[in-house]
Formats: sequence, C-alpha cells, structure tokens
Amino acid sequence: MPERIKVDVFLEEYQNIAQLPVDCQILIKQARNTCRYAYAPYSNFLVGAAILMENGEVVTGSNQENASSPSGLCAERVAIYSAATRFPSVAIRKLAVTAIRKDGNTYQAITPCGGCRQVISEYQSIQNHPIQVIMEGPEQSIRVANSIDMLLPFKFSAENMESTCK
Ligand code: THU
Repeated sequence: MPERIKVDVFLEEYQNIAQLPVDCQILIKQARNTCRYAYAPYSNFLVGAAILMENGEVVTGSNQENASSPSGLCAERVAIYSAATRFPSVAIRKLAVTAIRKDGNTYQAITPCGGCRQVISEYQSIQNHPIQVIMEGPEQSIRVANSIDMLLPFKFSAENMESTCK
C-alpha cells in the first residue's frame, strides 16, 4: 500500500459579519461596496475583492468580463495585481471577497477560483507571511482561511523548479 500524505486544512466560520474582528468587518464591507464596479454583462455575477496591506492601505478589484471570455479577469486577481503594482514592497495581510447577482439583494457565498488561489499563493510565498482570505459564506455566514495554504494544499511554487534535471 502507498503511504498517504495528509494535510490538515480548515476554515473558520462566523455566523454573521458582526462576529468578525473589526478590521475584517471593514474589509468585507469594502469588498461588498466594490461589487458595483464589476463589469459582468455575461454572467451578471458581480464580484468584489478588497485587500488590506501591511501599511494599512486598502486596494480593491472587481471582475472584468470580456466578449472573448478568456480575456476577462476575476476580482481577486484585479485586486492583487493592482496591490502589487501600487505597493510593490508591502506585504499583503488580508483579502476579502464577496459577490452579488445583478438582480439580487443578498450576497452570495464565494471562494476564490483555482487560478486566483494560485496567484494569491505566489504573493504569499514571496512575502513569506500568510495571507488571510475572508469569504462570504452561505446564509450570511463569513468564512476565513488563515492562509492560502488552507485553500490550496499541495500548491505549485517556485520551489518545485529548484531541483534541476540532468
Ligand atoms: N469570478 C471572480 O471574480 N472571482 C471568483 O473567485 C470566481 C469567479 C468571476 C469571473 C466571472 O466574471 C464571474 O465571476 C462568473 O464566473
């Protein structure tokens, strides 16, 4: 029998936004506010992301779709690339993400897609400090991953490329 390589992953769940630490409450509200800037005429799914930097700055992003669908980009990546451009040597502490349907009145549960997890993981690796991910959960709950590793175990990183093949 092969050995099993096990990892322990978990999310913290808060029953409503008021139970979150205050800085996380503010950040998820900033993400909610950012949904209004989404350009999502194809999915009508408006996503907002807000990033808290180590220097206290907040950088936001919304999903931007395109008639040629692969050319669009998720809210999280719009936010993180903007953060890396505006504050290239400042660590990212937290990323909040939320979504609402164009005709909806409640925020939707969301978790970053695989591509966004990979991108968040890249920035976490280079800053060598965990990035906390705060997500809108089901039934008004809020879920928190204390590191991107909780969402992307067995990640691919630069380390995988270090050993050279002969
Ligand atoms: N989307 C995001 O912005 N973030 C995610 O984590 C998942 C999906 C966007 C992409 C597309 O514009 C729309 O949501 C529907 O997939």
